Amino acid sequence: MRTLTTIALALGLASPAAADLKFFPERQETCVACHGENGVSEIPEVPSLAGQPDYYALLQLVEFREGNRDSPEMAATVDGMTNDDLKAAAAFVGSLPPAPAPGPGDPAQMKAGSALSAQHGCARCHGAEYRGGQQIPALRNQRADYIVKALQDYRAERRIGERAAMVEVAAELSDAEMADLAHYFAHQP
Ligand code: HEC
Ligand code: HEC
Repeated sequence: MRTLTTIALALGLASPAAADLKFFPERQETCVACHGENGVSEIPEVPSLAGQPDYYALLQLVEFREGNRDSPEMAATVDGMTNDDLKAAAAFVGSLPPAPAPGPGDPAQMKAGSALSAQHGCARCHGAEYRGGQQIPALRNQRADYIVKALQDYRAERRIGERAAMVEVAAELSDAEMADLAHYFAHQP
């Protein structure tokens, strides 16, 4: 079965930590133009990169370049980038400090989101504090509008991702449940 991990291994992309950052001082400005200062996004449906594991970032950058994950903005960004460029970009993402806590959420939505997360076992893969790791993204203090968009993309199978794990998860979620989950993850203390 084709997975992101096997693609990355085939491309020799297994070790972003070993990448050097030397091409990055100029390119960082491009990334933060959309993804925000320190990788904390202020643009709707543009994800924060702060706190994302470097390996997850690398796999996604490969997916954008190979056209397996659809985003005109990211396709244009990674167009012409070599494997070493992608490794350096992923190392840059991994070097960002975690996204700051944005303040308390709406109590009713926090309660509903927490219960849904427990019911669907989100922490089983994304970690007890939703910090992700390896090929699993952090959800902690990600933008709520982006989380909803990502869940809708999985449910509609516009985005398949690693072993289609999220397609199965998202198939069980209603729009209202997605909104509660996203609010909960976006407001972690
Ligand atoms: C023109 C705006 C734009 C620029 C410039 C840009 N990005 Fe993005 N990026 C996006 C958008 C929009 C998405 C979300 C795509 C989606 O909805 O699937 C994204 C997604 C990503 C993701 C996946 C995040 C996740 O949580 O899955 C990574 C990693 C990423 N970008 C890294 C970078 C890096 C590194 C740079 C600089 C080299 C960069 N981006 C430049 C707009 C941009
Ligand atoms: C079986 C493991 C597993 C479970 C359970 C799981 N996830 Fe995921 N999740 C993943 C993996 C792996 C990815 C990355 C997939 C990819 O490559 O696109 C992911 C990606 C995501 C993303 C995209 C994040 C981004 O930055 O683009 C969101 C949002 C998400 N999961 C939310 C959830 C929610 C909400 C739950 C519980 C309802 C959940 N996940 C349960 C494994 C899991």
